[in-house]
Amino acid sequence: LAVAAAARDLAGLQLVVSAGGTREQIDPVRFVGNASSGLMGQAIARAAVLRGAGVDLIAANVDLPSPAGVRTIPVGSTLELQAAVTAAGKAADVVVMAAAPADFRPAQAQSGKIKKSDPNQRLELSLVQNPDILAGLVADRTDRSQVLVGFAAETADTPEQLVDLGRAKLARKGCDLLVLNAVGRGRVFGQADSEIRLLRTPSEDAPAPDALAGSKDTLAHHILDEVLQIRSGR
Ligand code: CTP
Ligand code: CA
Repeated sequence: LAVAAAARDLAGLQLVVSAGGTREQIDPVRFVGNASSGLMGQAIARAAVLRGAGVDLIAANVDLPSPAGVRTIPVGSTLELQAAVTAAGKAADVVVMAAAPADFRPAQAQSGKIKKSDPNQRLELSLVQNPDILAGLVADRTDRSQVLVGFAAETADTPEQLVDLGRAKLARKGCDLLVLNAVGRGRVFGQADSEIRLLRTPSEDAPAPDALAGSKDTLAHHILDEVLQIRSGR
């Protein structure tokens, strides 16, 4: 890995990496969101800069110092993330969607704080679906050499089930690479170490990819190695 970093094998490439979790405001003080820390996306951004790439990091509510050498663009909601990723992604050689976008947003955000009244009051939130940013990038891709990378965090009981879920998601998204990891029971979110599988084909005939374990920095380099391999096959 030190050799790969020294080789600056991503020199001349422009990457867009999204990180963190989006938040959908219910009212000025409350939101619907998730626990994504942004660590994985940041690790990829850092690794890519080390290897010579230009990197835009679209950071959704990431509470971490911005990595050196990276242009960081902060965003809040999924629609904001979509606008920033789509704009920066136009000129990018690689887009990595490591962020966890909220799939739904309140049908209407309240401009004032929601107040509670009597103890029997119920509150029903109506949510509408957000656009799928990655699927949009795939559909609108004009540069055939552009590499699009998705992530999938799935709850699964067995590795086989995990890979099946990953294959189905890869088929649905149509991206070039899906970084698959298991979540739940304290795994992944907010932790420095992780375990991933790199899926390049939804085909059930292909062997299931091995699990790669290690620090998010190490895994970031594995992901970038795979991206380079995909590019060299174009
Ligand atoms: N993603 C996206 N736009 C969304 C939701 C997800 O671009 N509105 C991206 C994520 O950044 C990730 C990939 O799609 O790279 C898979 O996200 P995931 O939440 O696992 O998939 P969904 O299609 O939202 O399916 P579900 O949450 O129902 O499993
Ligand atoms: Ca989702």
